[in-house]
Amino acid sequence: MAFGKKILFLIVTSLAIAQMAISGDPDILTDFVLPPNSPPIDSNFFTFTTFRSLVSAPVPPTFKVMKATMEQFPALNGQSVSYAVLIYPGGSVNPVHTHPRSAELLFLTQGTLEVGFVDSTNKLYTQSLQTGDIFVFPKGLVHFQYNADVKNPALAISAFGSANAGTVSLPNSMFNSTIDDTVLALSFKTDVATIQKLKSGLKG
Ligand SMILES: *[C@@H]1O[C@H](CO)[C@@H](O)[C@H](O)[C@H]1NC(C)=O
Repeated sequence: MAFGKKILFLIVTSLAIAQMAISGDPDILTDFVLPPNSPPIDSNFFTFTTFRSLVSAPVPPTFKVMKATMEQFPALNGQSVSYAVLIYPGGSVNPVHTHPRSAELLFLTQGTLEVGFVDSTNKLYTQSLQTGDIFVFPKGLVHFQYNADVKNPALAISAFGSANAGTVSLPNSMFNSTIDDTVLALSFKTDVATIQKLKSGLKG
């Protein structure tokens, strides 16, 4: 490659990388985005009170997630941020999943939590979190959380760099969608009966 072309290539690729590094949700050209046909708004539009229900609430019987994304809180549309509150009764798991549009910054505010993610080379990174710890799950990677302490609940708050990070649950998309049994049996190098057994455990 000629020197001039090399320089041009370097400039173009570094601009592309810079673009990737700053990319969140698409930028908006207004201060905030109102839902279509919205009546005039006030401060209440920017306030989300659903999590008040968590104050002094009993521990739920199974793993529970409460979200504040643009679906529940429309003022987040265009702001590239959202939250989830995650409650893990003793021994419960948040099954393996990914968030296609954002990293997840998990802050453990109560209890202990086993967490892990798998990178694109299939390397597993795990950690035992203590109350007060923060862990980041990189964008789009498969991850999980598990409260191994059967006696005590754990509580975490997760922040996302998207108003709609999305959740793809692996058990669900593999074995609770309508992907053909034969395709799954071939994909997992097993038989259709094994696939049907896995599917039956997830039917709602
Ligand atoms: C499986 O899919 C059904 C229908 O979409 C849903 O109601 C149910 O909650 C799903 N099961 C799990 C374990 O997510």
